[in-house]
Amino acid sequence: MVVRVAGMALRILFVINLVLGLLFWFNVTDNGGLTLLHMFVGILFVACIWLLGLAQGMTKGGSLGLVIGTFVVGLIIAVFGLVQASLVGGAAHWVIQVIHLLLALAGIGIGEASAARYKRGVAAASAA
Ligand code: HEM
Repeated sequence: MVVRVAGMALRILFVINLVLGLLFWFNVTDNGGLTLLHMFVGILFVACIWLLGLAQGMTKGGSLGLVIGTFVVGLIIAVFGLVQASLVGGAAHWVIQVIHLLLALAGIGIGEASAARYKRGVAAASAA
């Protein structure tokens, strides 16, 4: 149940942050409080990734590599997001923005992979 909610939350939080991020990117909003909201949603997104990674690790056939992978990717997303505003200003800032987006995509990828592995593990355990 908790894992199912985390799996759904992962997608919803990703979409909310993608929309907010694109609004920032194309200067549709003046950022301000919305940036804080974006960071808060992003931290929840990372928490979901960690939870899914741990959950799949505790089921039948779970992968320790995936547990570590979710932990590392989640940590990089959070730390990069927290410091990114102060990284490379000016013309090259788009590189930082693209890396930030790619990290978020890696996050949803590894989160989805964990959720799928968790489901397979539960199904294998109940079939046994
Ligand atoms: C679901 C995960 C996330 C997605 C899809 C996402 C997406 C984006 C996008 C597309 C942008 C605009 C381009 C840019 O400035 O880089 C952005 C900006 C930003 N993001 Fe994220 N992000 C996510 C997670 C996070 C996290 C975890 C943090 C920090 C804890 C964070 C902090 C920021 C900051 C500070 C900005 C710059 C906002 C500004 O221009 O004032 N993001 N994000």
